[in-house]
Amino acid sequence: MKKTILLTRYLPFALAMLFASCEPADQSKSDKEKFVNELIGRMTLEEKIGQMTLLTNGWEVTGPVLNEDYRQEVIAGRCGNIFNAHTVVYNRVLQNLAVNETRLGIPMLFGYDVVHGHKTIFPIPLAEACSWNLELIEKSARLAAREAAASGLNWTFAPMVDVSRDPRWGRVAEGNGEDAWLSGQIAAARVSGFQGDCLSNPFTMAACVKHYAAYGAPMAGRDYATVDLSELSLRSQYLPPFEQAVKAGVASIMTAFNEVNGVPATANTHLMNILRNEWGFEGMVVSDYTGINEMVQHGYAKDVKQAGEQAVAAGVDVDMQGCAFLNYLKKSVQQGVISESTINQAVRRVLNLKYDLGLFSDPYLYLNDSVEAAVIYSKELLDHALEAARQSIVLLKNEPVKGDKLLPILPGSKKIALIGPLGDNREDLMGSWHAAGDPAKVTTLKEALMQRWPESQLRFARGCETFGDDRSAFGKALEAARQADLIIMALGENYKQNGEAASRSQLGLPGVQQELLEQVAAAGKPIIVLVMAGRPLVLSWIDQHIPAILNTWHLGTKTSEAIVDVLTGKMNPSGKVVMSFPKNEGQIPVYYNTKNSGRPFDPNNKYTSKYIDIPNAPLYPFGFGLSYTEYSYSDLRISRDTISKDQILTASVLVENRGEVPGEEIIQLYIRDIMGSVTRPIKELKGFKKVRIEPGQSIKVQFTISEDDLKFYRSDFSYDSEPGEFRLMIGPNSANYLSKSFFLTN
Ligand code: NOJ
Repeated sequence: MKKTILLTRYLPFALAMLFASCEPADQSKSDKEKFVNELIGRMTLEEKIGQMTLLTNGWEVTGPVLNEDYRQEVIAGRCGNIFNAHTVVYNRVLQNLAVNETRLGIPMLFGYDVVHGHKTIFPIPLAEACSWNLELIEKSARLAAREAAASGLNWTFAPMVDVSRDPRWGRVAEGNGEDAWLSGQIAAARVSGFQGDCLSNPFTMAACVKHYAAYGAPMAGRDYATVDLSELSLRSQYLPPFEQAVKAGVASIMTAFNEVNGVPATANTHLMNILRNEWGFEGMVVSDYTGINEMVQHGYAKDVKQAGEQAVAAGVDVDMQGCAFLNYLKKSVQQGVISESTINQAVRRVLNLKYDLGLFSDPYLYLNDSVEAAVIYSKELLDHALEAARQSIVLLKNEPVKGDKLLPILPGSKKIALIGPLGDNREDLMGSWHAAGDPAKVTTLKEALMQRWPESQLRFARGCETFGDDRSAFGKALEAARQADLIIMALGENYKQNGEAASRSQLGLPGVQQELLEQVAAAGKPIIVLVMAGRPLVLSWIDQHIPAILNTWHLGTKTSEAIVDVLTGKMNPSGKVVMSFPKNEGQIPVYYNTKNSGRPFDPNNKYTSKYIDIPNAPLYPFGFGLSYTEYSYSDLRISRDTISKDQILTASVLVENRGEVPGEEIIQLYIRDIMGSVTRPIKELKGFKKVRIEPGQSIKVQFTISEDDLKFYRSDFSYDSEPGEFRLMIGPNSANYLSKSFFLTN
């Protein structure tokens, strides 16, 4: 009996895996070319433009609905792709339309923002990046793809890899923080995770790296605002993750809403040249949502028709939601403004992707009810969601109170008060862009704590909301505080207070949470603050007054279980922040890899680059995070102090776990190029290792450095190294390290 259940449960997987084999590259390439060219030969201009069109599905209370006009466009072959539609039952109906009711029966792409999970939600990408665990991150993408593909999707609008030095910008939640190199490593991991080795495997999906480019550098941190950057910054700080995604074989790329140096990214031939000609990207380019039309507002196109022409001429293959192609491109071709060969090129890229996804062999490849039932919210996904959440938590402070650290909370008879708007909440814990994640699957923190503490010892009081100025529930919260031996405050942002179109000018706790915290703190009881947010907040007051702080971000479906594991010491926190936490908003942009300037910071010299009211250093530097144990770093060695361009240098350091519990430590390698033909940052991350160390154990951690690690963009934009002196730094974070010099010779 049991065996039969197992068989029926896993049979769909087994069958699907059987069909998932990729053909040898050369063979499939020539077959594909033949197939796609032949198909293009049979298409009308309208049908071609249809393949270049992507429209959104809608959702109503009763479920998914496709606007009647769009349905007619699909049937007429004028819309070849839909996004925001999912579930096998529903997408099968749409695919039927495309396959059986259009003249050529070309199957559709189904796109969706599977940014950090589809139904099972993993930590927001910014949080997950703090795990510095590339395998774990890749696995999240792999499992997210499996679940999304099981729901009828074949294309995700992820990974988002916009580097940002500005936490005012709400979309930092979706990215990997402030460092281009680390973000590039993560970009590649996520692309490999989503796409696997073979796109036609029905458990993988096409990735779409976004937003190309420099979307993370808007003026004043305001979403969609102007981006004005030197070519050097663009190439050194903003483009590397995109290049890494391309190297990892990403299938598609999305242009950004913003302009870059006066030209909207949607029609930016300079960016497109880098993408296509320098990096050799052959995949599909899609605009962002009505990004083409918005070129009129940018003041770059006189009307939507011209905007469409500019976009397609620059190399945009698919128009997301703007209908600029749908409504005007035919005319542009007829008028000779756009050549049909330009159109054919765009269509070819769309059809190539459909081919690679296996849709021409089986349009229903991703539409299997039993696979959907077996994969969604399966144990493997939920277990991984918990592990990813646990590894994303960052311990920011854990100072003793009367001789004892508050964390981890030891078992005992303490009376605990859980206070704050995020203490009994489901949806916000999933974070922004939580796709089809179901809040009902989220345990609240209160519920999770109640599984470990007897009800008699745990009291919850909401205190206030994450927004607004209602203080009417303060009284109950203060009462709970007074009766407690230990207070856990669950404070931060709701999921709409970060993400798209959620820039903030002040980065404290929103609403009246700060007031609540200060009043609770006045009760004089020991407090642990959980900061649950989608961006680095300004935590200066909290850092000064509260002994224990955990930055827990928004960790997805398993947020609460992960937090309780860390609170109780079942999990020793190991995350380290991938964005600097500012002391106050005036420090922004604040980031670790600054340049030295001609008058570097000197607290004793007024005429140096600094503020007169605060230090330059952030509150918590890039790479910072504590643990329940303590590590000591010693014995930094390098294998040689001079290397030539074809030699390798080995650097090692001894890291000892001096505490009483095992832990995982993230050991970071930074390099400074002392002098160059263009000035160089005071340090740049070039490597890291995450290792488990037992109490009392010392581990020798090694890094290798080659000429490649020393290359940089020079003033002629060549990417090369220059001989001279370098400083190597290894330590627990960007502000604390051991260092040694070495030289590169010609
Ligand atoms: C706009 C966002 O900028 C982009 O990231 C997203 O993929 C699209 N909307 C589609 O939802």
